[in-house]
Amino acid sequence: MSAVTARVRVEPIADPDSPVARAVRALRVAPDQYRYVGDTAFNLGDTLRDRMSEAMAVIADDAVVGFYRLDFAPNAVVGRSLGMPSVGLRAFVIDHRHQGRGYGRMAMTASRDDLRLRHPDRAVVVLTVNCINAPAISAYLKAGFIDTGELFHGGSAGPQHVMLQFLHPHPSP
Ligand SMILES: CC(C)(COP(=O)(O)OP(=O)(O)OC[C@H]1O[C@@H](n2cnc3c(N)ncnc32)[C@H](O)[C@@H]1OP(=O)(O)O)[C@@H](O)C(=O)NCCC(=O)NCCS
Repeated sequence: MSAVTARVRVEPIADPDSPVARAVRALRVAPDQYRYVGDTAFNLGDTLRDRMSEAMAVIADDAVVGFYRLDFAPNAVVGRSLGMPSVGLRAFVIDHRHQGRGYGRMAMTASRDDLRLRHPDRAVVVLTVNCINAPAISAYLKAGFIDTGELFHGGSAGPQHVMLQFLHPHPSP
């Protein structure tokens, strides 16, 4: 991995015609990565049409390098409530020309800080990641997600790990 000095931030996309939205539509992954994430232009449109979701851009210095979806539906991602206010993280992507520079890990840290600020009612982030998607698993673990040990079989590309990131310190027992 090369050293990175870029400042990575995340921001909501409200306007589908904004320059940031246009840059998100231009994001691409390597051919063998589409099975994990699909087409980002489609994912952006799908997110913007859903009142329970927020579209988020990942920006390194001034360049749009990534995208993800925050899904606030109570049963998002794993199809059931987690017994606490949760938010699902979906469709996460860093453009293939920018991968391997730490942007994915930094984006997840920035996303946690953003959620604490804008959605302080949310207790936990939940996501699923394909068991053979090593870079994504590593990026999530390095950003503080924990592997629950549960496997989710709902995806089309094989079994997925269920991961959680708690947004606030737990009270001591
Ligand atoms: C998963 C993804 C978002 C990670 O973003 P990234 O910016 O490339 O990841 P990072 O550079 O932050 O790397 C995080 C860790 O992953 C590991 N990693 C990165 N690239 C890797 C590779 N090609 N193979 C194995 N491990 C890798 C490293 O351990 C790295 O940690 P380090 O920087 O401390 O060494 C990006 O690869 C991607 O968009 N993939 C395609 C779509 C996808 O799979 N999305 C996830 C759906 S759940």
